[in-house]
Amino acid sequence: MDEFREANLANWDERVAGHIVGYEVQRYIDDPQHLSDVVTFDLERLGDLSGKKVIHLQCHIGTDTLSLARLGAEVTGIDFSPQAVAAARSMFEAAGTPGRFIESELYDSPGALDEKFDMVYTGVGALTWLSDIDGWAGVVDHFLRPGGRLFMTEGHPMAGALDQDREDRLLVVDLPYFEGRMSTWHDEDRSYLGDATLTNTTIHDWNHGLGEILTALLDRGFVIKSFVEHDSLFWQMHSWMELGEDGRYRFPEEVRDQVPLMYTLVADKEN
Ligand SMILES: C[S@@+](CC[C@H](N)C(=O)[O-])C[C@H]1O[C@@H](n2cnc3c(N)ncnc32)[C@H](O)[C@@H]1O
Repeated sequence: MDEFREANLANWDERVAGHIVGYEVQRYIDDPQHLSDVVTFDLERLGDLSGKKVIHLQCHIGTDTLSLARLGAEVTGIDFSPQAVAAARSMFEAAGTPGRFIESELYDSPGALDEKFDMVYTGVGALTWLSDIDGWAGVVDHFLRPGGRLFMTEGHPMAGALDQDREDRLLVVDLPYFEGRMSTWHDEDRSYLGDATLTNTTIHDWNHGLGEILTALLDRGFVIKSFVEHDSLFWQMHSWMELGEDGRYRFPEEVRDQVPLMYTLVADKEN
């Protein structure tokens, strides 16, 4: 693993304890009907998952994975964080839900699991940790059977290019939109959930333009079935975003229609 991923892994491992509280894992154990906000948001586009084999890439502590299982899917989650995988396994066990979790770096995962699935599910803060979107599409391709489906709701690269530290309520492009060769480096001692102070503070991320993402899939023969942009986000990217009753963050009304914040992409692998 390169130094960028090693730093990211140390940071993600350290976030897990706080996220078990922040993601309200106990609620999933206490209430067998409970679904994550992300999967609830995806419901109208996900289709029927009954009996479908679904692999969740970068599954984190498994709250979305468990929600997919509750919709009838036979689930496998993959993540490179041993702490996240352990937390996911323990939540599934406590909830009495069957599910399999594999600890693997994303680009190494085809070597860790040679199996085909009906659906690859990923997103909501997953792609930004990956340096090579074309390589990512190769991993998606590896795991899908012919006719299988990629489903993801993800942070929009246009939002990812904005300066997130401005307090003057101006939308200013300050970071790369395109993938480029270099990561963007951050030093942060907080996660987006919980109030734990992190010691592994250096993280590296990458933006990926929409054209780069779509081309990586189209080059492998994928058919884009649906592409929808959203004006809301699951995390507070800018301090002046407003929290809605639906639990999602939006820019104030006067600038809300200026920049998309997330997108949902559905793409099918050719038969
Ligand atoms: C923001 S979380 C995804 C969140 C997920 N949508 C959720 O809310 O549960 C990003 C996840 O990607 C994982 N990750 C980051 N870089 C990775 C890599 N190179 N290979 C595998 N997993 C990685 C982290 O461990 C973390 O669990």
